[in-house]
Amino acid sequence: MHHFNIKACLIEIIFSMRKMSPRNYISRIKFFFLSIAIILFIFSCKSEKRQKQYVIGFSQCTTGDVWRQYMGKEMEIELAFHPEIKMIVKNADLNPDKQIRQIKELIDEKVDLLIATPAEAKPITPAIEEAYAKHIPVILVDRNILSDKYTAFIGANNYKVGSDAGSYANFLLKGQGNVLEIGGMDIGSSADIGRHTGFKDILQGYPGIHYVARISEDWDNAPKQAEEDLTNQLKNYSNIQLIFTQNDRIGYGCYEVCKKLGIANKIFIIGVDGLPGKNGGIDLVDRSMLKATILYPTGGKEAIQTAIDILENKPFQKENQLYSTIIDSSNVRMLNLQSQKILSQQDDIVRQQYMLAKQIKVYNNQRTFNNILTIALCLVFILGATVFFSWIKNKKITQKLWLQNDEISRQSLQLSEVSAKAEEAHQSKLNFFTNISHEFRTPLTLIFAPLGELISNTRIQPDTKQALQLIQRNVMRLYRLVSQLMDFRKIEFKKMKLKVSENDLVSFTHEIVNSFRVLAKNKNIDLEFLTSERNLQVWFDTTMIDKVIFNVLSNASIIGLFTS
Ligand code: FRU
Repeated sequence: MHHFNIKACLIEIIFSMRKMSPRNYISRIKFFFLSIAIILFIFSCKSEKRQKQYVIGFSQCTTGDVWRQYMGKEMEIELAFHPEIKMIVKNADLNPDKQIRQIKELIDEKVDLLIATPAEAKPITPAIEEAYAKHIPVILVDRNILSDKYTAFIGANNYKVGSDAGSYANFLLKGQGNVLEIGGMDIGSSADIGRHTGFKDILQGYPGIHYVARISEDWDNAPKQAEEDLTNQLKNYSNIQLIFTQNDRIGYGCYEVCKKLGIANKIFIIGVDGLPGKNGGIDLVDRSMLKATILYPTGGKEAIQTAIDILENKPFQKENQLYSTIIDSSNVRMLNLQSQKILSQQDDIVRQQYMLAKQIKVYNNQRTFNNILTIALCLVFILGATVFFSWIKNKKITQKLWLQNDEISRQSLQLSEVSAKAEEAHQSKLNFFTNISHEFRTPLTLIFAPLGELISNTRIQPDTKQALQLIQRNVMRLYRLVSQLMDFRKIEFKKMKLKVSENDLVSFTHEIVNSFRVLAKNKNIDLEFLTSERNLQVWFDTTMIDKVIFNVLSNASIIGLFTS
């Protein structure tokens, strides 16, 4: 099995941390505490899964009588010391067919071990053999099968029980008398067969003792019927001095019948089992209802102990014969005291086990709470550390940002100073040009008036007129350029206002183009105004658009199209 070693885990964590980037100390701390939290969690879970779990299937021929219940109690007490074992109990109600079915169910459920008390030896044998063949260890308790294909047997020797009862009967009757045997309905069980055979066999050695008959009654399930039957039978067998009953419950029933018939003090009754407690065999002997009982231990405790040895691969014995003995007036006092003590000790054990289970529950709850608390603390620490280191990191970043900010402000101040100077220079340049332009306009207007007069003079030569017209055009252009320079200033200071009206852009453009026709013709230039629209009503500032189109056509003249 792989062992979880805390030391190895810690070494592993430290190595992993060393592999991480040394600058990333926040991640290192987080990693460390998270790993510790996970280890704690795994440890807390692991300790609960220390032992291997086992399932024992218990096929009980019946759970309907005190002897079997006592056996169950013994098993329970023993099992309480082994929480790793779970036991499934199936009650066959003394029905062999039912028991076969139940054994097969347990085989299918793949129990780790099978404990069985066969209701009857013969029919149950194949089912037990099947389990054994499928490698399920089988422990037979109290009753046997007709095969040796089982792992272990635990129980007293029933043949000896029968023969002990026979010898004691001979002793009571002083070698002379008639005896009756009364059993239960489980005639085919090894217990019944063994006791019956042992009893009869030993009596053969006592010629004065006469075995009259064997009667079977169901005292556990139909006591009224059994009582009636026995009353009638005893009338038939009137000369009976002793009754051997196969268990104390039947013995007690017999005593009640004999008492009713007024023959209780004339007939000795010997029972089997010798259970402690009220109306148990020991109590019945003590109260002289039974002359004797043969102690027949249940083997519940031993069955569980052997099962654990088998499951844990420890050495064990196949045949485990339990001790049986006669209880009569000579030892009943002592046994009664002892059995009472045992019973009270058993009760103490049960109560202690109950208290222990409660304490374990409390302990488990506390441990879970503790684990949760530790993990929560680790997480809080991680969180705290994260917040602290983030705060430090943040502080550093903020400081850096402040420095960068200062630098940026300083640079932007410098920039605005530079741009203000540039703007100032630009403005003075523009002002200069505007003032110059303004100054240019007056002389241009003054040139323009006499020039018009000279051109309209009819006495001038055509060559001179043409030259004057060229001068006039260029004066005009100069005037417009100067005006445009001033417009530019206005636009810059946002003092230029649009005066829009809805006009036909096509005819408007046409007119301007027409004004260039003469010039174009003179320059032998093919000037055409091409438009896909006949007219186009749009909103525009006529002065501005006039300037734009005029400018475009004038520019064409500047690059040589219209210039002479
Ligand atoms: C209980 C019982 C006991 C008896 C044993 C024999 O079911 O009848 O009283 O001793 O079974 O198997």
